[in-house]
Amino acid sequence: MSDTSQSAGGGLAGPTGQPGPLDQLVLTRATEPVETRKSAGPPEPAAGPAAAGGALRLRGVGMDFHAGRRGRPGRPGRPGRPGRPGRGRGGAPAEAAVPTLADIDLVVEPGEFVCIVGASGSGKSTLLRLVAGLLRPTAGEVTLDGGPVVGPGPERGLVCQTGALFPWRTAAANVAFGLELLALSRADRSRRVAWLLREVGLEPYADRLPGQLSGGQRQRVAIARALACEPRVVLLDEPFGALDVQTKEDMQLFLRRVWADTGTTVLMVTHDVEEAVFLGQRVVVLASDPGRVVADIPVRLPGDRDLATRRDSAFLALRSEVEDLVRLHHRAHARRLAEAAG
Ligand SMILES: Nc1ncnc2c1ncn2[C@@H]1O[C@H](COP(=O)(O)OP(=O)(O)OP(=O)(O)O)[C@@H](O)[C@H]1O
Ligand SMILES: [Mg+2]
Repeated sequence: MSDTSQSAGGGLAGPTGQPGPLDQLVLTRATEPVETRKSAGPPEPAAGPAAAGGALRLRGVGMDFHAGRRGRPGRPGRPGRPGRPGRGRGGAPAEAAVPTLADIDLVVEPGEFVCIVGASGSGKSTLLRLVAGLLRPTAGEVTLDGGPVVGPGPERGLVCQTGALFPWRTAAANVAFGLELLALSRADRSRRVAWLLREVGLEPYADRLPGQLSGGQRQRVAIARALACEPRVVLLDEPFGALDVQTKEDMQLFLRRVWADTGTTVLMVTHDVEEAVFLGQRVVVLASDPGRVVADIPVRLPGDRDLATRRDSAFLALRSEVEDLVRLHHRAHARRLAEAAG
């Protein structure tokens, strides 16, 4: 992969334009005191040159799902009606509402890089889908620049846990998808697509269909697609989970460069604590039953992180601290499950 800072046009702006504007997300209150720990080292400098723009906030956000019955999939609760499943067919009582997230308050500052960790099932993907506008909260609200998030939008680029490419489109056509809605000339669009594919190391695979790519290659196409429209907020759900160690390291460094060059806000979900501490400026820990914020930890490591950062004593101490927290809440969840099972 080439160095983003040396790319034509500089950074994510690529060959066509100015770096995109930015955003903001933050998170503070929870159903119980949120732990905020101090970490060693100076505060990391604010992100890149274009850090400006809106604020993304979650205020008192809750999300219920109704458990599916007889093998049917569950479904989201009604917006604004926590714990009220309504009536099923013929007036029969509907399935119970299961609170998945409760009382989430989150603000991410413009240009911030925030990682969310937590045990499987704690609601990390649900939180991201709420911010992406793919779900409406059953309580509270999500806003961007003070306006409610009511659906997906090009200012928020999402990489799902499964990648989710269009199987009938080539890698290049997948990356071009969002750009087709913008007023770009065909030549500009092609240049931008080629640049993004080069950045994620997939230029030779431009004409392949997703079915002809490996899992890691598909995920890299999904990342390029999410970045294509210069979103002010990039939402990443375990984007590197399927990658081998080497590619994962390359992609982590690539993501840090993109973030530093563009100043875009990044909200990333991962179960990999080392990755969260390496990439993030803050690490937010979710606990389960319901998903809630139990810690919000600043990562005060130098801004220009590289692979040596992972051997730094401050890094190792912080990683252990976050791992201990995740483990603690995971065990509490497992105990509750065992008790409920009798
Ligand atoms: N559509 C749905 N219907 C019913 N329940 C759902 C639905 N979507 C998610 N859930 C439930 O919400 C909870 C949180 O799911 P979510 O996918 O957000 O967890 P996660 O933290 O991302 O887990 P993982 O680390 O395994 O990806 C889970 O118990 C899940 O079963
Ligand atoms: Mg998930």
